[in-house]
Amino acid sequence: MREPYAVREAGLPDRVTVYEVGPRDGLQNEKAVVPVEVKAEFVTRLAAAGHRVIETTSFVHPKWVPQLADAAELLGLVEKVPGVRYPVLVPNERGLDRALEHGVEEIAVFASATETFARRNLNRTLASQFEMFEPVVARALENGLRVRAYVSMCFGDPWEGPTPVGQVVEVGRRLLDMGCFELSLGDTIGVGTPGHVTALIGAFGGPSRLAVHFHDTYGQALANTLAALRAGVTVVDASTGGIGGCPYADSATGNLATEDLVWMLHGLGVETGLDLASLVETSTWLAARLGRPSPSRVVQALGETPTGGTADHDVKE
Ligand code: HMG
Ligand code: MG
Repeated sequence: MREPYAVREAGLPDRVTVYEVGPRDGLQNEKAVVPVEVKAEFVTRLAAAGHRVIETTSFVHPKWVPQLADAAELLGLVEKVPGVRYPVLVPNERGLDRALEHGVEEIAVFASATETFARRNLNRTLASQFEMFEPVVARALENGLRVRAYVSMCFGDPWEGPTPVGQVVEVGRRLLDMGCFELSLGDTIGVGTPGHVTALIGAFGGPSRLAVHFHDTYGQALANTLAALRAGVTVVDASTGGIGGCPYADSATGNLATEDLVWMLHGLGVETGLDLASLVETSTWLAARLGRPSPSRVVQALGETPTGGTADHDVKE
């Protein structure tokens, strides 16, 4: 089988937007620094596979994330497809200046729900991170940009343990009140479980303006996504091939793989606009450049085997 058998589940959305983070969240944590031309081809392939939103790179301090130090050059190389959004991560005004210089139309700021991660990831306290984001969001909106926001460590933090739900809601509400159009709830270290997801979305008063961003460290990402869909969320972050992590949280491994997500969504009869075979082909191509196999289960099942054949279960079964 190369596509799942579709059986609709009542109450789920008809369509989900997959917010692709592979070129940013994926590549920022790969040991191999990928040549900028390979990154540009990766982004081009993602758009060709049907992605309509591709988080392309970050304008953070290049010493903090050297893997994305070529952000400006990459944006110059990417041939933008009409109708496709190419947001970039921006932490501060210096990052916004760089994004504006390069014609970026959408940015994402990224806050922490915990004190320790705010210090480690942003060199700020939990409280002072907002002083950094406020002028960024205000100036971006004045310049006509769309601004997304992330909250990291929404479920737990390696140094502080479980994150109180109220603390996540407080941080998230402040970002939404600043004018961010969407808030992505990040399980940076992949420790969340479905009941916790349902409770967190409920604590926000429902799914309006919420997206979810699950890392698959503990194998919970798909179950957590299903909980979020059942709660009404329609935007799900994922990384093609399941590459990724976060360089400032040791226990963060790859994002939910786009292919694994698409298999589940198409199986539930939920439209994504994505071509699964093209995504698998792209992940196989990228894995060769990264020198390691894709961690995605669907890529492993459908991709080329090391002997050059294809793992086709129609034949094997
Ligand atoms: P800082 O050291 O406090 O910065 O870093 P500063 O404001 O004190 O400035 C120090 C120097 O850095 C100055 O240069 C600035 O110009 C320069 P100098 O005057 O000394 O020559 N600088 C910059 N240069 C280029 N671009 C910039 C920039 N900003 C300052 N944007 C800062 C503060 C926020 C910049 C730093 O902490 C940083 O870059 N952090 C980013 C860390 C990061 O990218 N982490 C990964 C992304 S988050 C993530 O993956 C989680 C997520 O996926 C969701 C989830 O999974 O939960 C989103
Ligand atoms: Mg992440």
